[in-house]
Amino acid sequence: MAREADRAHGQWTPAIGAYLDALYAGEDGGMREAARAIEVADMPQIQIPPADGRILEVLLRLVGARRVVEIGTLGAYSTQWLARALPDDGHLWTIEVSARHAAVARDVLSRAGLGAKVTVLEGAALLVLPDLEPRGPFDAVFIDADKENYVNYAEWASAHLRPGGLVIGDNTYFFGRLAGVASRDAAEEKAISAMRAFHQLVAREFHGVVLPTLEGLTVGVRR
Ligand SMILES: C[S@@+](CC[C@H](N)C(=O)[O-])C[C@H]1O[C@@H](n2cnc3c(N)ncnc32)[C@H](O)[C@@H]1O
Repeated sequence: MAREADRAHGQWTPAIGAYLDALYAGEDGGMREAARAIEVADMPQIQIPPADGRILEVLLRLVGARRVVEIGTLGAYSTQWLARALPDDGHLWTIEVSARHAAVARDVLSRAGLGAKVTVLEGAALLVLPDLEPRGPFDAVFIDADKENYVNYAEWASAHLRPGGLVIGDNTYFFGRLAGVASRDAAEEKAISAMRAFHQLVAREFHGVVLPTLEGLTVGVRR
């Protein structure tokens, strides 16, 4: 077990984060355009940070991903980190329920030259996913949408990933509410239970771990 003094030596600081982001997590023009488009369209600025984008890219490279599904596109910011990891003949399908977000994402992707490599599918993911099944099995599924359905998305991933494929879920600390707090109302109680069911499924059916990013990034390798 690390002593208190050793732990202090290992600590992240904003300055270290900025230094490392510049070194490892450089955004390209398309990613910067996505962030700008999200802001200009007055969409919620809730895309992943660059360091998490780089984690996604490296994870996909590690498993040699070619066929990937993303749930929750927003303005195609994380989409481009995922797409960056794919070989020329790879493909990414990204699902977005909001017509406005999907339109911004399509525009961003087409301007980034990714119109052929990435397909934006519009609709609620639970309804769209069955249409993708003939394209599988997939190498990775990245979940970053409605939290109450994470467990359903992970179940779908378990059925449609190849062995060794990855399920990845963002915000899985559930904004600090996953454990150790009293739920504020019945709706939150239900939402926390749903996120816990996601973790239980990943822990049971995958080789899983939660990477300690700011929001918690769960990664499971399909058995
Ligand atoms: C956190 S944002 C995604 C951010 C994006 N992955 C990034 O990091 O650049 C969540 C997105 O999921 C979409 N969404 C919410 N519920 C959904 C559903 N049931 N099916 C598909 N997309 C959904 C929202 O409209 C929103 O654009």
